[in-house]
Amino acid sequence: MRLRRRRRCEVVDVSEANLCLRDDVRVAVVRQVGVQVVLDEKREFRFSLDEMARRITPKTKMIVINTPQNPTGGVLTLDDLKGVAKLARQHDLLILSDEIYSEIYYGTPTAGMLDIPDIGDRLLLVNGFSKTYAMTGWRVGYSVVPKDLVPTVNLFMNNSVSSTSTFCQLAAIEAFSAETAPIVANMVQEFRKRRDVFVDGLNAIPGIRCLKPHGAFYLFPNVSSFGRTSKEIARIVGVKPTSIDTYRSRIMAKLGVEDLCALVRFAIRHGLLQA
Ligand SMILES: Cc1ncc(COP(=O)(O)O)c(C=O)c1O
Repeated sequence: MRLRRRRRCEVVDVSEANLCLRDDVRVAVVRQVGVQVVLDEKREFRFSLDEMARRITPKTKMIVINTPQNPTGGVLTLDDLKGVAKLARQHDLLILSDEIYSEIYYGTPTAGMLDIPDIGDRLLLVNGFSKTYAMTGWRVGYSVVPKDLVPTVNLFMNNSVSSTSTFCQLAAIEAFSAETAPIVANMVQEFRKRRDVFVDGLNAIPGIRCLKPHGAFYLFPNVSSFGRTSKEIARIVGVKPTSIDTYRSRIMAKLGVEDLCALVRFAIRHGLLQA
């Protein structure tokens, strides 16, 4: 297989958390350079449109945004989105908008890129079932893309996931049924209670400052007053970056099971998995 190397191009990326997006762009563009824009705590983790405008160069092809956002819980306003649309039109850029947390908000419904009129010709909107319908790992999502990009997106999908498994598709249809709306509302209500407990708790600790997120289910406390890096603080409080393999091995050691099959049998025995 030969990869056609394209000229180096840039992507203005404000989606802090989702590294897959970055890799997707890398695969598609081959020599992509991500240009980050600051998400400012003083602006409730929204970026500055002026800064975004300054970071756009003749090589820029796409702006990537995420709202509500992982990992800050920040939510962009309709004016922010209008500003992004304006910049994209001015510089003839695509917009990739990841709105996977669109239904998890704690105030008024959040604005989305589809609220912007006539943006369809340059918008790649991505959403999925993993957050709203607690289907994490099921690999089901959907997108709205310009018609002329559909063959390219299909090519990418065919060669990355092939196709969505049948049971996941059936679950996704079920997720869209009317009965799920109150269940989602209950879940978000529960998230709101947890958010309030944790934000109040963190703010009660001297030296920690934590904004109340308007969406998604993340807290992004500011610990800068301790004069140490967040990595150091994480180490002090006992949080260690762990690979999934290490994590799995630790769980297996704790449960006294020796291999993955034994772990699955353990889960079935304790009603955590259905046979
Ligand atoms: C902003 C954002 N987009 C997309 C995803 C991907 O969701 P999934 O792979 O579970 O469908 C995540 C997961 O954490 C996310 O935070």
